[in-house]
Amino acid sequence: MATYLITGGAGFIGSHLADRLLANGDKVRVLDDLSTGHRHNLAAEAELIVGNICDAQAVKDAVAGCDGVFHLAAVASVQKSIDCWGETHAVNSLGAVNVFEAARNAGKIPVVFASSAAIYGNNTTIPVSETEIPQPISFYGADKLANEIHAGLAAQAYDMRFAGLRFFNVYGPRQDPSSPYSGVISIFVDHVLADRQLQIFGTGEQTRDFVFVADVAAALHQAMTCLHNTKDGCFIRANVCRGQEVSILDLAREIARLAGKTGEPVFRDARQGDIMRSKGDPGRLNADIGHVADITLQDGLRALLDWE
Ligand code: NAD
Ligand code: UD1
Repeated sequence: MATYLITGGAGFIGSHLADRLLANGDKVRVLDDLSTGHRHNLAAEAELIVGNICDAQAVKDAVAGCDGVFHLAAVASVQKSIDCWGETHAVNSLGAVNVFEAARNAGKIPVVFASSAAIYGNNTTIPVSETEIPQPISFYGADKLANEIHAGLAAQAYDMRFAGLRFFNVYGPRQDPSSPYSGVISIFVDHVLADRQLQIFGTGEQTRDFVFVADVAAALHQAMTCLHNTKDGCFIRANVCRGQEVSILDLAREIARLAGKTGEPVFRDARQGDIMRSKGDPGRLNADIGHVADITLQDGLRALLDWE
C-alpha cells in the first residue's frame, strides 16, 4: 500500500484517479483549492487539504509522507489562459514548479503530471507523436510545455523520476459543465438534456481526439507504476489519446442523436488559440506505459448520458 498526493484531486480527472487508487488499497491525499473542483467528487476515505499549489508551504506539508505525487491541479481552459494570462500562468507554471520542488525535497519521490495535447499547437503531422517539436499556440499550451522542460531538467539535475502525460480531450462523468470554460462534451450534454441550443465556435470542422476519463485514470496509475519500477532519474512523455478524431460539428450531432433530440447548433466566432486538428498517436502509451485507451466515443457518450 502506498500513499499518494493528488493535486487537483477534487476535480474531474483527479477524483476518478482518487477512486482508482483507493480501490487499489492505496491512501489518497488531495491538495485542491476547490476553484473548479468539488468536495463531493471525493470518496470519504480520501483526505482533502484545501490549499493552493502556489503556496509553497502548503505544498510541502501536503507532500510530507507521500510515496509519489500526481500533479493535476491547473486552470484547465485554453480560453481562460487567454482571458486571464497572468493568473493562469501563476498556477499552471509557477504552481507546477512548487509541486516538483516539494517532491524533490521530500526525498525525490516520483511525479506523474498532466501535460496536454495543447503543446503541439497546429502541428501538421497527423497523428501527432511525441517526437514532434512542440509549437503551442496558447498560453495554456506554453505553460504545459514549460512544465515538461522543467521536469526534463530536474530529471537530469536532481536524478528525479517524472512522467508527463499529454492528455488529449478528456470527457466523462463529473466534468463540470457550469462554466463557459468547461470541456465541450460536458457543455453539449448539459445543453442537449436541457433543450438549450448548442454553440459552435468557428466552423465546427476543428477536430479533437476524445478519451474517456477511466482510460486516463488508468494511464496515470500505470505511469506511476512505471516510475516505481525505475531506479534512475528519467522523464517519460506519452500521449494519452485514442488516435481517432471527430469534428466538433459531428460531435454535436452525435450527442443530440444519442439523447434523442433534434435542433441545429448556432455558430459563433472562432476562439483564439483554438487548434484546428487534433489526433494523437497512442503508440507510446500502449508500448511504454502499457495501457490501451479502448473505450470508444460512442460507448463513453452512452455511459455519460446514462450517468446524467
Ligand atoms: P478540473 O478543473 O476539473 O480539475 C483541476 C483541479 O485543480 C480542480 O479541482 C481545481 O479546483 C484544482 N485547482 C485549480 N487551481 C488550483 C490551485 N491553484 N491550487 C490547488 N488546486 C487547484 O480539470 P480537469 O479536466 O480534471 O484537469 C486536470 C488536469 O488535466 C489539468 O492539469 C488539466 O490542465 C489537464 N488536462 C485536462 C484535459 C481535459 O480534457 N480535461 C486535457 C489535457 C490536460
Ligand atoms: C481541452 C481541455 C484542455 C486540454 C486540451 C487537450 C478543457 C476545458 N480543456 O482544450 O485542458 O489541455 O483539451 O487537447 O477541458 N467548443 C465549441 N462550443 C462550446 C465549447 C467548445 O464549439 O460550447 C469547441 C472549442 O472551440 C474547441 C473544442 O470545442 O474547438 C474543444 O473545446 P474545449 O472542450 O474547451 O477543449 P480544448 O480547447 O480542446
